Amino acid sequence: MATAEVQSREWYVASYAPIGVPNSDHIKLRTLTLSLQADSIPHGNVAFQILYVSIDPYVRTQLSGLNDGLYLPQISLGQVITAFGIGKVIRSKDTNFSEGEIVMSRICPVAEFGVLPSNLLQKINHAHGVALPDYLSCLGMPGITAWVGIEKIGNAKEGSNVYISAAAGGVGIIAGQLAKVKGCRVVGSVGSDHKVKLLKEECGYDEAFNYRIETDYDAALTKYFPNGIDVYFDNVGGKMLEAVLSHVNHGARIALCGMISEYNKVWTEREGVRNLLNMVGKEVMMKGFMVGSYYNTLRNL
Ligand SMILES: NC(=O)c1ccc[n+]([C@@H]2O[C@H](COP(=O)([O-])OP(=O)(O)OC[C@H]3O[C@@H](n4cnc5c(N)ncnc54)[C@H](OP(=O)(O)O)[C@@H]3O)[C@@H](O)[C@H]2O)c1
Repeated sequence: MATAEVQSREWYVASYAPIGVPNSDHIKLRTLTLSLQADSIPHGNVAFQILYVSIDPYVRTQLSGLNDGLYLPQISLGQVITAFGIGKVIRSKDTNFSEGEIVMSRICPVAEFGVLPSNLLQKINHAHGVALPDYLSCLGMPGITAWVGIEKIGNAKEGSNVYISAAAGGVGIIAGQLAKVKGCRVVGSVGSDHKVKLLKEECGYDEAFNYRIETDYDAALTKYFPNGIDVYFDNVGGKMLEAVLSHVNHGARIALCGMISEYNKVWTEREGVRNLLNMVGKEVMMKGFMVGSYYNTLRNL
C-alpha cells in the first residue's frame, strides 16, 4: 500500500455502563488519521489493516467502570476498545514482519487500522487454506477455552454426563463437540428453539433445552440428567450454577469459565449460590480459569 496516511474509524469508550446493556451512549465511533510514513511508525511496530475482530463477552466486563472485581481491568474512558483480531500488514518497522502477511493480536483495536508493537502480534500461516475467522473461533481463544474446560478441568471421560450452559455460544459449541469426541453424553442449554435444533441436529449433542421455556432449572436437570452430572462447563453462573449443584454426582468437576447471566449487574445484585454445601458432601471440584494461563500448556503438547 503506497498511501501516506489512512482514515481509520474506531470504537472507543465514551462512558461506563455499570448496569444494563451498553449502548451508543457508552460506545462511540470516531475517525482518526493514521500516518503511514516510515518515521511515524515506531521502531519494532507494525501497521496493519484490520480484517476481523471478535467481540467476546469479556469486553463487556471491561466497560462497567467499577473496578469491583478481580476479573479484568477496565478500559479507560476515551480509549479505543481492544479485542482479538486479525489484520494484514501494510507497513513494518520490524524485519520479521513483511507487508501482506496476516497477523493476529489479542489486543487488536476495534478499528479499521492499527499499529502495535510486533511482540503483540502472531503470524498466521495462511497457506493451509483455513478460513481466517476460524482463527478467532474454533482454532482461537474460544476453542482453546473449550478445550481447557473439557479436558484440563472437567477431565471428561467416556461415559461422563456433561452439561454445558450457553451451549451454542463460541465456547459452548466447541466444548460440546469435544466432549462428544471423548464419548461423553452431552446436554446443552440455550436461549432459543432454533439453537436447540442446531445443537441436536448439527453438533451431535444428545439433548438440549431452551432455558427461557424450561424455566424451572431444577426440573429440567432432573429430566435431562437422570444419572446426575459428572462435568459442568459453566458459562452463565447465577441460578443455573445453583441448580447444577443439586444434581452433581460424587466427585463431579465444574469448570467455571464465565458468568454471562451476571455481567450486566453490579456484583452486589448478582445471583448468589446458596447450596455450596453440596460440594462438600459430593466432594465436587470447582475451578475458575483464564484461558491465557493455558496457552503454554497447549504449545508444549
Ligand atoms: N475464562 C476464560 O478464559 C474465558 C474465555 C472465553 C470465554 N469465557 C466466558 O465463556 C462464556 C461464553 O463465551 P462465548 O465466547 O461462548 O460467548 P458468545 O459466543 O458471545 O455466546 C454467549 C451466549 O451466552 C448466552 N447468554 C447471554 N445472556 C445470558 C443469560 N443472561 N443467561 C444465560 N445465557 C446467556 C447467549 O446465548 P443464548 O441465546 O443461548 O442464551 C449468548 O449467545 C462467557 O461467560 C465468557 O465470559 C471465558
